[in-house]
Amino acid sequence: MKAYRAAILRFADDHAAVYEEDGLLVVAPDASGRQRVKAVGAWHELAPQYAHLKVAHLPGRILAPGFVDMHIHCPQVDVIGSPADGLLPWLENYTFPQEARFADPAHAAEVAAFFLDELARNGVTTALAFATSHPASVNALFEAAEARSLRLITGKCLMDRHSPDGVRDETEQSLIDTEALIQRWHGRGRLGYAITPRFAPSCSDAQLRGAGELAAKYPDVWVQSHVAENHDEIAWVRSLYPEARSYLAVYEQFGLLRPRSVYAHCIHFDDTDRALMRASGAAAAISPTSNLFLGSGFFDYEGADRVGFAYGLASDVGGGTSFSPFHTMLAAYYVGREGHSKTGLSLKPQQLWWQHTAGAAQALGLGGVVGNLQPGCEADFVVLNPAATPLLARKTALAASLDELLFAMIVLGDDRLIECTVVSQALAALPTMKPIQDLPT
Ligand code: GUN
Ligand code: ZN
Repeated sequence: MKAYRAAILRFADDHAAVYEEDGLLVVAPDASGRQRVKAVGAWHELAPQYAHLKVAHLPGRILAPGFVDMHIHCPQVDVIGSPADGLLPWLENYTFPQEARFADPAHAAEVAAFFLDELARNGVTTALAFATSHPASVNALFEAAEARSLRLITGKCLMDRHSPDGVRDETEQSLIDTEALIQRWHGRGRLGYAITPRFAPSCSDAQLRGAGELAAKYPDVWVQSHVAENHDEIAWVRSLYPEARSYLAVYEQFGLLRPRSVYAHCIHFDDTDRALMRASGAAAAISPTSNLFLGSGFFDYEGADRVGFAYGLASDVGGGTSFSPFHTMLAAYYVGREGHSKTGLSLKPQQLWWQHTAGAAQALGLGGVVGNLQPGCEADFVVLNPAATPLLARKTALAASLDELLFAMIVLGDDRLIECTVVSQALAALPTMKPIQDLPT
């Protein structure tokens, strides 16, 4: 058992933040050796019970759940910041050429290591990620995640049409490879597989049908794709599937909407699409820095909440511009303002933080497992230093409420706020981070 004394942030079932100014977090291994939260609460209430434990005291620091990134592309690390007039030219001119480099397993391994270290440096401990169409890129990413004990869900990109040489795959082989990768990796330690049709225009009917059949055969495997991101993309889908009611309905037709299906963007939806998301149990990965960068549009929070489907936040690197959950939450705040301009309401700091932790975990079907620090959760957490920069120190010292404190970190925060990232399996700071016992006290 280990115990940490610091301020502690976690979330109640009603999504409200619970904050202990002076808290105690006690973690203990389960039968498989995975560290879980055993007790959490106010120091003065819990301390007598755990007086026998050596406590790591971290004054001035905040322990918070490790962030959950619902949609990110490992092979797009080197695509960040590539200018284009919109999604389709960005894919053609920058993204596909970079992804073609992953035919080389050495390149795939080098980028996978950088990618996961960058996630951890930014406090992300669970991610649903795209690899490329090359099975070796999936193996490289899983191997690197396993070595770091990170919770990673990924899969081989399916793309057998409208894709250039070097990234295009072959229908039958792509489905054989997918099933072999499911059997090799899904459920191994903290790893999970996601059946990954890139998006409807890049997959033949036979490939989408095969993906849907695998989704039915392996119901606890995830499905990830893109939908309703960009007007040119939507017009393209309409020309490919003139009979379909909408872009989302194409995925429904192939059996790709179900719990654990995660669709990035979901911007240009009508209420029938929203109701289909809700009824099927699929979830949206909101990617605000990407949508602003590529000029794709604004996720409609009001519509999503009115109809009531699951969603959470995502970086969508390399369309997205940052690995930092603080940058993503701030962009979501801007987008929320746009969507609520009629009502004058804006997203609250606790809502934004929930969407990138417990809410994202819930949308992935991992509620109560990660994204929170309630008893029973896997002990993935970040140590935040709210005085990490002169401006953060000045602003957070003035905070008169939890909302003001959280909002100061959302607006001014980046990787410097994350002093340490701790993951459940090893309960050691990740290799790129300072060991927790070396933190200044
Ligand atoms: N649609 C299909 N592929 C992609 C991708 O790599 N990024 C984004 N943002 N949208 C896509
Ligand atoms: Zn994406």
